[in-house]
Amino acid sequence: MATAPLLQVVGLTKRFGGVVAVNDVSFELEAGSLHTILGPNGCGKTTLFNLIDGSLKPTAGQILFSGVRIDSMEPHRIARMGIARKFQVPGVFGELSVAQNLEVALARADGANGMVALTLVRPSIARRDELAELCGLSEKLERTVGEISHGERQRLEIAMLLACDVSLLMLDEPTAGMSVSETQSIARLVKQLNVERGLTILAVEHDLGFVRSLDAPVLVANGGKIIARGDYETIRNDPRVIESYLGAAHA
Ligand SMILES: Nc1ncnc2c1ncn2[C@@H]1O[C@H](COP(=O)(O)OP(=O)(O)O)[C@@H](O)[C@H]1O
Ligand SMILES: [Mg+2]
Repeated sequence: MATAPLLQVVGLTKRFGGVVAVNDVSFELEAGSLHTILGPNGCGKTTLFNLIDGSLKPTAGQILFSGVRIDSMEPHRIARMGIARKFQVPGVFGELSVAQNLEVALARADGANGMVALTLVRPSIARRDELAELCGLSEKLERTVGEISHGERQRLEIAMLLACDVSLLMLDEPTAGMSVSETQSIARLVKQLNVERGLTILAVEHDLGFVRSLDAPVLVANGGKIIARGDYETIRNDPRVIESYLGAAHA
């Protein structure tokens, strides 16, 4: 029997009153794949992530993870199954050092609850340093979050997510507010996590440059729907994408 895709989204719909934020969306992610969802502001990208991580419940449709329905599960159970999601705004502790932030994430992954528990659960320094190395933060371990760049904070948050046993990593506009070089460095990290760690990654973006540099299959969203699919060159030349994406971006 063929194994189920890691994630299956089937006819997913979410309404907020009269607004259909996600409208009959279906797609599958094979384990180990990297995909981007490209779409203008307000097209439903964040709502889609909120549905997948369980913080919102769909109006209609199904979400399956490794073949198991998760669309009515509580977010903490979904997280324990291996779905991690990075928000648009970094969720790091500004007063703490990079090392301490990673230690908090590792302590939480080991079952500790909150910063206080850091004194009770002693996270592995080796794992902390490995996460820092993986995300290019080895030189910054002693810096406080306030002292590192916006791009480094985003990488720190990705490193913190990886403290848990993650198989699907969802990134919500990971390069928002970044310089071109920071954007490139996040793109390199995302590719590396996909190739070297075998992480399945879904990144949503409205930034064309980031989507192009990831060089991965793209789902193009507009008005809550997936309007085109394919590699970057294919979608870039798709008249529906040019019309709706560029039209909306210039609105
Ligand atoms: N909690 C909510 N209540 C009402 N409307 C919402 C809510 N969340 C999102 N929306 C609406 O759903 C649409 C999609 O929003 P969102 O998913 O945030 O888009 P994106 O992340 O692509 O910018 C927008 O019209 C937005 O105003
Ligand atoms: Mg959003």
